[in-house]
Amino acid sequence: MEEYSQKVMDHFMNPHNVGEIPDADGVGTVGNPTCGDIMRLYLKINEGVIEEAKFKTFGCGAAIATSSMVTDIVKGKTIEEALKVSNKTVIEALDGLPKVKVHCSVLAEEALHSAIDDYYKKKGLPSPVVLKHSHEDEEGAE
Ligand code: FES
Repeated sequence: MEEYSQKVMDHFMNPHNVGEIPDADGVGTVGNPTCGDIMRLYLKINEGVIEEAKFKTFGCGAAIATSSMVTDIVKGKTIEEALKVSNKTVIEALDGLPKVKVHCSVLAEEALHSAIDDYYKKKGLPSPVVLKHSHEDEEGAE
């Protein structure tokens, strides 16, 4: 059985950026229909830069660790930079994830992209975000 890295354990036991942003500029909520886990990500964006990111996740330990890591990663980034953050970026930052937990990191990527998409919609601007709607071909999906 694959083990969790120390970083995954740290972010699971002591997650960063837990909570809500009441006046968020973008909110993304995504779920995985197979495991039933749900992740909600809030972004505060000022002049194209993500100033604050928070999350609420009802999910497994890896979902919490990846939410915590993705919110850490995007803080201070521009929207363009944040859109390049993928589930692989998150996995690498966590020093890896067991294969059966890869779909948890996909949830983190989707929550981020969906929050950015929401930001554009709220502003009435065309969104550059391409949202994925299927988990079926994701590696590691159960
Ligand atoms: Fe579903 Fe981790 S997000 S088991």
